[in-house]
Amino acid sequence: MSEQKTVSFERPVLRGTLQVPGDKSISHRAVMLGSIATGKTTISGFLDGEDCLSTIDMFRKLGVSITREGTDVVVDSPGISAWQTPTETLDAGNSGTTARLMLGILSGSPVTSTMCGDQYLSKRPMKRVTGPLGLMGANITSDEHDDYLPLTVHGTKLAAIDYQMPVASAQVKSAVLLAGLQAEGETSVTEMVVSRDHTERMLNQFGAELTQEGKTIRIQGGQQLSGTDVVVPGDISSAAFFMVAAAMVEDSEVSFEKVGLNPTRTGILDVLKAMGVRLEQSQEQGFSGERYGTVKIMYSKLNAMEIGGELIPRLIDELPVLALLATQAKGRTIITDAEELRVKETDRIEAVATELRKLGADIETTPDGMIINGPTPLTGATLQSYGDHRLGMMAAIAGLITSGPVHIENPSCIAISYPQFFEDLSNLANG
Ligand code: S3P
Repeated sequence: MSEQKTVSFERPVLRGTLQVPGDKSISHRAVMLGSIATGKTTISGFLDGEDCLSTIDMFRKLGVSITREGTDVVVDSPGISAWQTPTETLDAGNSGTTARLMLGILSGSPVTSTMCGDQYLSKRPMKRVTGPLGLMGANITSDEHDDYLPLTVHGTKLAAIDYQMPVASAQVKSAVLLAGLQAEGETSVTEMVVSRDHTERMLNQFGAELTQEGKTIRIQGGQQLSGTDVVVPGDISSAAFFMVAAAMVEDSEVSFEKVGLNPTRTGILDVLKAMGVRLEQSQEQGFSGERYGTVKIMYSKLNAMEIGGELIPRLIDELPVLALLATQAKGRTIITDAEELRVKETDRIEAVATELRKLGADIETTPDGMIINGPTPLTGATLQSYGDHRLGMMAAIAGLITSGPVHIENPSCIAISYPQFFEDLSNLANG
């Protein structure tokens, strides 16, 4: 029997302050670069979600010492050249970031290893990464389908390439840059549209030099990384669920503290402002090359808008919950250029539309997005998570504005990126 969680609040109002868990993208990269580096790396504010724990587990199997107490992590590595060949398969679980970045890292490492993933990750495309890595000389083999995990990486000498990205994906960019770090010569990656730049910032933090000119990033191979201290800000993609909740639940006002404000991730704030949400942003601070600050969101009357183009990679993970918000906005919200949503943890275009329609939303899908007409009053229903954390959280947030309860099937996937989500939801909605 599958598990179910019910979200039902009598006239909720969200008030108070919230510090969301650490940024998933930055947490992964801190463990990865700390393991490539020689020496000790301390990470505070680490996301103890399942995806990032999969990353830690992989490096332990490669002989890196990693200790964790809650959100404090210490990585003590002999450096990539001293990694050991693992005796077991490396399991990326549900994590696309772990799988894709690791393919890049392992390609130029001294070890041979096989990597697998869960039933969802095993259906997500890997050729977008193994393609460019192959051009660098990577030796990656598969027993069955070469676009999917499991894949075996036979670490080898790599040569630099100049790579023109055919997709807007930070995972692909990062995999090529991390392979480039170990390749002979200078590797360049040119993006179509700028995607999150945490890898570039963190490589700098660990002592590597990169140059950037327009949308081209260059890295010289053979640079050595040294352990350092990393402070992980709150994940704006997790905060986004409660930002949307505060914006659409009457009388709400929530302050998000120490939330990451890297400009390649703040598309959600631009959209909220453009939809008419009252929003205050505090003086930002910086640490580990990343910015963070406080954002206050107040309940507001919402207008529809068009979301597309260069904005998309800056809010790609926020689109499910933004689609929910759009059901409450006046007019027609059109989301375009978001075809990448079709290859996320699930096909998020079809899944979002199917689930929101069960609540009464007026929503149409297009090959690269959605068209949502609002405002529409929503009713309760039983919604599927599809094993996708962001679908599960979207369903729970919907439950704050539906006339009846929302039952979520298979909510446990939410622990992939936000283990204490339901605790934070009930604290805010009852507070
Ligand atoms: C991520 C990049 C994004 C995002 C994912 C995390 C990363 O994927 O959707 O949740 O940490 O690099 P793509 O870069 O493939 O779009």
